[in-house]
Amino acid sequence: MKIAILPGDGIGKEIVAEAVKVLHALELPFEGETALVGGAAYEAHGHPLPESTLALAKQSDAILFGAVGDWKYDQLERSLRPEQAILGLRKALGLFANLRPAICHAPLVGASSLKPELIAGLDLLIIRELTGDIYFGQPRGRRIASDGHFPGSEEAFDTMRYSRPEIERIAHVAFQAARKRGKKVTSVDKANVLETFQFWKDVVTDVGREYPDVALDHMYVDNAAMQLVKAPKKFDVVVTGNMFGDILSDEAAMLTGSIGMLPSASLNASNQGLYEPSHGSAPDIAGQGIANPLATIMSAAMMLRFSLNQAEAADRIEAAVARVLEQGLRTPDIHSEGTTRVGTAEMGDAVVKALRA
Ligand code: IPM
Ligand code: MG
Repeated sequence: MKIAILPGDGIGKEIVAEAVKVLHALELPFEGETALVGGAAYEAHGHPLPESTLALAKQSDAILFGAVGDWKYDQLERSLRPEQAILGLRKALGLFANLRPAICHAPLVGASSLKPELIAGLDLLIIRELTGDIYFGQPRGRRIASDGHFPGSEEAFDTMRYSRPEIERIAHVAFQAARKRGKKVTSVDKANVLETFQFWKDVVTDVGREYPDVALDHMYVDNAAMQLVKAPKKFDVVVTGNMFGDILSDEAAMLTGSIGMLPSASLNASNQGLYEPSHGSAPDIAGQGIANPLATIMSAAMMLRFSLNQAEAADRIEAAVARVLEQGLRTPDIHSEGTTRVGTAEMGDAVVKALRA
């Protein structure tokens, strides 16, 4: 088992170190190799995704990724910004299926901004298409407008597009995931306005006929944003495009109390995957040892389950995380009265201890 370890920027280094600690404690035979990515790679090599890092990622069974980005790179031209590293990895490895579970751990019901009864027992899975849509659609750019409201003025444009096979393959991922859970898929679109998403809805409906045992419903994205805060427990599996999925997954993350708790997996057709916390690099708290490492630790669990065929080890990590939460240990983002405030490394150590118990 070869794992590429790409900590990245900001709190990335601190949280990935804790996940690596947990992986070592499992005593599995894996080979980990660390490389620079994002702003850190730009500083050292002049590019956020150097050839050597991309080559390492391609050769590995799985990638454990921290986070990239810092405001200080906002002035760089787009192709050199840290975010291009993660977009480039998704594209180069064909990581089209992004799994973002939002689970409310019982001891954290009070940490959510929603009423406890709305989120107690919440367990939903957002499946976001990750290599298409307006994120990657061509053409895009800036030009002088030849038509529209202001011909002759400067304008910018992006292209939203999806092909049938792109929608079919992500729909299959969603229906198969639903089969192993609540047997319900909600496909989120904007079919009332956008041609791309009327097509999305039609193709998902076609694929759904192959899964008569899974209930399928369709929801416009604006309504889905509302239902997520109104009645989130009505969802089981949500499948949607790249941009809607980006937005809705942050919203779903907050339901659980802290975005610091949410892992994610990005898989390609051969189950090679990139595993990262759903949160970003949080440069404002980097280097202070207070970031929550649990999303990254649980991302490592997803890595063991989906790419490395070690479901039992994954279960052990998740049980250990549940145990430290029951013990009342909390990083500042999830801290509340009556619980014990700990730092990043203490939280990682506690998970290791719980694993061994
Ligand atoms: C995410 C992030 C990325 C995205 C950024 C960093 C490019 O927000 O993984 O959700 O928009 O996909
Ligand atoms: Mg996002």
